[in-house]
Amino acid sequence: MTHFLDIHTTPEADLRGIVDTAITLKNARADRPKGAPDDDQPLKDHMVALIFEKPSTRTRVSFDVGVRQMGGQTMVLSGTDMQLGHGETIADTARVLSRYVDLIMIRTFEEQTLLDMAEYATVPVINGLTNRSHPCQIMADIMTFEEHNGPIKGKKVVWSGDGNNVFASFAHAAKQFDFELVFTGPPPLDPEAALQGLYSVERDPNLAVRGADLVVTDTWVSMHDPQSARERRHNQLRGYQVNEALMAKAKPDALFMHCLPAHREDEATSAVMDGPNSVIFDEAENRLHAQKAVMRYCLGK
Ligand code: CP
Ligand code: NVA
Repeated sequence: MTHFLDIHTTPEADLRGIVDTAITLKNARADRPKGAPDDDQPLKDHMVALIFEKPSTRTRVSFDVGVRQMGGQTMVLSGTDMQLGHGETIADTARVLSRYVDLIMIRTFEEQTLLDMAEYATVPVINGLTNRSHPCQIMADIMTFEEHNGPIKGKKVVWSGDGNNVFASFAHAAKQFDFELVFTGPPPLDPEAALQGLYSVERDPNLAVRGADLVVTDTWVSMHDPQSARERRHNQLRGYQVNEALMAKAKPDALFMHCLPAHREDEATSAVMDGPNSVIFDEAENRLHAQKAVMRYCLGK
């Protein structure tokens, strides 16, 4: 069974294969209408469950469109509508779903929910974001970097802001794809201890971005964070906003990324988000291509 649960638990060669396949798939259907089928139909006769316990625009639409382009069918399930939220164990849910569908993508809160789903399902399971990681996003981000600026190996990536779930997948990727990762943010919002050794820390964002090939940020308040933390986080993170002054200290061709959704003028200014170095909408598009490659990988196609 080939799940796609996290970047650090997927073999390095497989990750490289997924990025390369994603670029090939994207180029093969350039200029075609979004609803046009791919030439081969690797998911023909396949049913895919897309489970969301949290809101989503990109993950939901990109998985749905991707499955359809590959000839499969989807059902989008909200966690609260399922018995999942009402006491049935994840193990039983996984066993039952496996009798109906060929692949499960789940966006959930606790990582344990994802792990239980993978342990008890008899079909592949894909991580569509948990409180701890967001591997599909970073596969799209690596693809986006390489499309614009070539191999990411040896490059300097700087994360400014909250050491959250998206950062965690960047940290996993730094080891697997062999790039340098620098975290700049306030100590209370440091990444979780399990990630130590995968990145370095520079508290001063102006020093951190020197020589950066890529500057990344994300929302200051994630879906799993209490809304009551909002004001405190804004105070803690204000100095880590990615604005034109900060980008000017990175390399001239440094890319800017944000997984979206963004709070414009908080973690990044519109001048940067819509500026010449920003690739935020390429990242969003590449979710589609990268996840098609991930689904093929899981199904051995
Ligand atoms: N970046 C991302 O995962 O976006 P959604 O929350 O809209 O899926
Ligand atoms: N860190 C954000 C990412 C959203 C795609 C969150 O978890 O809410």
